[in-house]
Amino acid sequence: MSDKTVYVGMSADLVHPGHLNILNKAADLGDVTVGLLTDQAIASYKRVPFMTFEQRKQVIENIKGVSNVIPQHTLDYRDNLNAVKPDYVVHGDDWKEGVQQKTRQQVIDCLAQWGGELVEVPYTQGISSTQLQAAMKDLGTTPQIRLKALRRLLNAKPLVRFLDIHNALSGLIIENTKVEIEGRIEEFDGMWGSSLTDSTAKGKPDIEAVDVSSRMSTLNEVLEVTTKPIIYDGDTGGKTEHFVFTVKTLERLGVSAVIIEDKTGLKKNSLFGTDVEQTQDSIENFSLKIQAGKRAQATDDFMIIARIESLICGQGIDHAIERAEAFLEAGADGIMIHSREKSPDEILTFCEKYAALPNKKYLIAVPSSYNSIYESELQAAGVNVVIYANQLLRSAYPAMVSTAQSILQHGRSAEVDKNMMPIKQILELIPGTK
Ligand code: SPV
Ligand code: MG
Repeated sequence: MSDKTVYVGMSADLVHPGHLNILNKAADLGDVTVGLLTDQAIASYKRVPFMTFEQRKQVIENIKGVSNVIPQHTLDYRDNLNAVKPDYVVHGDDWKEGVQQKTRQQVIDCLAQWGGELVEVPYTQGISSTQLQAAMKDLGTTPQIRLKALRRLLNAKPLVRFLDIHNALSGLIIENTKVEIEGRIEEFDGMWGSSLTDSTAKGKPDIEAVDVSSRMSTLNEVLEVTTKPIIYDGDTGGKTEHFVFTVKTLERLGVSAVIIEDKTGLKKNSLFGTDVEQTQDSIENFSLKIQAGKRAQATDDFMIIARIESLICGQGIDHAIERAEAFLEAGADGIMIHSREKSPDEILTFCEKYAALPNKKYLIAVPSSYNSIYESELQAAGVNVVIYANQLLRSAYPAMVSTAQSILQHGRSAEVDKNMMPIKQILELIPGTK
């Protein structure tokens, strides 16, 4: 056997003949070390892999010709190359074009320091990870995998973003919408089961008037056609004796987390603030509710997040911080802090104080009113989850009203046609319609 060392960087989520081709070529050249991209490295430019790092490692370690598997923590190869100092790096030739060009050049320059060489294997036609991933999505997911997905995302990404659902179609939009920015694929990480948009879509006020069974039926609709994780808006959680059943139902469905707010009595939407009567529950009572919920869980993965309404109720930041500390102590897996201020200032001050709590866990923010803030700023303030709580329904409603008005005004629909999706497109939107 050659005494040369060979380095191959890969994600190896869905291993196909294209990967084996590269590994075979590498094994022909010498002793192969695979730099397996961590979930964090992969999540920095596309969706978190289906298999965990450990599962992917197990697969790659057992492929003929692979001697060693080490983690590659970034898309950039250079740290690992400097440590391994391989004679060769083997890669598919597809990275000559597109976003990976820069990484390729860095590899070439790095190898040149010790006379190493980049060997490129022709891209295997007819099979790709993208096709396999689409096929996996078609197969769907299981409640267990979906439930765990939120914790995996939070481990892999500094910030995850969720958007409101109120029916299956809104779920599909979140599932499928992607944009490419400088080679990174940006998409929503999951779905927020908003009480406001679910209630509004049902023509009911957001006062816990839509009962839990109806809320679950919306969730079921969405679960049927999507794979991404769900955070459920549990309102106040209702009576503690009832909340434990909600927790069990959500877990059984594969929902990842429930957020309950520390209010009591007839719930009113937080965005009314002090314009309506809103009463906060006592720390003691709400802590008991959290504890009962945690005891009701069947898995370790499900999360109960405590939502603090102190800022909504005009009680100030210290009031909110005291509650955060107490609810985390009671076993909450994270804190959602809400505000209806136009400016993000009070949220940012809260974040600063929260960061100093010794028992802090995940932090969730809902920038509905303070919408000028960027995700990057929330991330820098220590926020882990950003929830866009109602934007899909708020954009759909005015579009529909304006269509209805145009038809009434003109006595026909031709004038509004330009604002609508073409008939051909709606027929093709949901596969299998034809
Ligand atoms: C929801 O989306 O229902 C929420 C967020 O609870 S808010 O409407 O701002 O209260
Ligand atoms: Mg709500």
